[in-house]
Amino acid sequence: MPTIRFEGQDYFCSSDETVLESLERHGVMLPSSCKSGTCQTCLTRALKGQPPSAAQKGLKDTLAAQNYFLACICKPEEDLEIGLASVSPKYSARLIKKDLMNESIVRLRIEVPEDFSYQAGQFINLIRPSDELTRSYSLASISSDSFLELHIKRVPEGRMSTWLFDTVEEGDELSFFGPSGDCFYLPDNPERTLLLVGAGTGLAPLHGILRDALEQGHKGPIHLFHASLAAPGLYLIDELREIAVQFSQFKYTPCVLHGDAPEGGKQGNIVDIPGQVLGSFNGFRVYLCGDPQIVNALRQKAFMAGTSMQDIHSDPFVFAPA
Ligand SMILES: Cc1cc2nc3c(=O)[nH]c(=O)nc-3n(C[C@H](O)[C@H](O)[C@H](O)COP(=O)(O)OP(=O)(O)OC[C@H]3O[C@@H](n4cnc5c(N)ncnc54)[C@H](O)[C@@H]3O)c2cc1C
Ligand code: FES
Repeated sequence: MPTIRFEGQDYFCSSDETVLESLERHGVMLPSSCKSGTCQTCLTRALKGQPPSAAQKGLKDTLAAQNYFLACICKPEEDLEIGLASVSPKYSARLIKKDLMNESIVRLRIEVPEDFSYQAGQFINLIRPSDELTRSYSLASISSDSFLELHIKRVPEGRMSTWLFDTVEEGDELSFFGPSGDCFYLPDNPERTLLLVGAGTGLAPLHGILRDALEQGHKGPIHLFHASLAAPGLYLIDELREIAVQFSQFKYTPCVLHGDAPEGGKQGNIVDIPGQVLGSFNGFRVYLCGDPQIVNALRQKAFMAGTSMQDIHSDPFVFAPA
């Protein structure tokens, strides 16, 4: 049974526990959010001992080489002495605009801190100051915008999303760290077909990736399928139609599960629609964002339809366990 040494105390970690679970069982709370190795809130450093490489999934090579790891997916194989990571600077920036996109999605525009840089489609981790609650939100803006843009869905009784909806006001300072994630446009092959698929606020990173690709001169076809349960859940429809008028290689397909198909769109299951419309995805680069079930099902479909796994970029919006 490996021992975890943290702040001078030793804690036993049973064979089926992660470092995070073991410390929580002993009453020691490390920062965490998704608990599935996505958000990197639980980034921790092994000061002594070697974390398993599976616990370094998605970390930059430079961090992995310094023995940083994600405590929520780390099942230690040997004794570890650990310390909290302080590699990601925290930023504080003013909320400059807050408006509703529809009745359950709010758009936040935040000042860009001076030394903050990102790739469109990455995500940041917002921190609620009263209790350090941390949640990930994707960037819908592109780096040439004068603001950072987030699209937040109201989750019933969700702690961060209801706080952002009901309490935060224009002029307030918001704290965050990041950016993280590898769901962004790669300009290596401007002729390639891009397929962007997302439901709900899964549109946020796709909106950034789309605008970034066009700004960087992407020439190949770009297909965006955005889904909602029903028509009122769709948003940015006019803006996306306008982009499709300006850029002939861009095709926007709004999709609904229930009710009539929107103008120029489709009715049905978003997991099936891109395949029905496009047939094979052979040679495509695919971006999938939003609801984890939909993202996982689409990842399989894209693979079966001819896309290689390394060309499938996805950001499942995994939510923190209750
Ligand atoms: C990489 C990444 C990017 C993300 N980007 C975005 C984004 O751009 N926009 C956005 O709105 N969200 C995004 N999320 C989700 C976001 O981080 C939060 O999980 C979400 O806002 C809920 O947080 P909360 O504190 O309000 O709810 P919590 O207090 O954590 O949740 C309360 C309960 O509600 C349930 N729940 C939580 N979320 C959902 C959900 N989506 N659907 C159904 N039930 C739920 C759970 O059972 C949970 O126990 C992203 C997540 C990840 C990992
Ligand atoms: S990566 Fe560990 S809590 Fe999200």
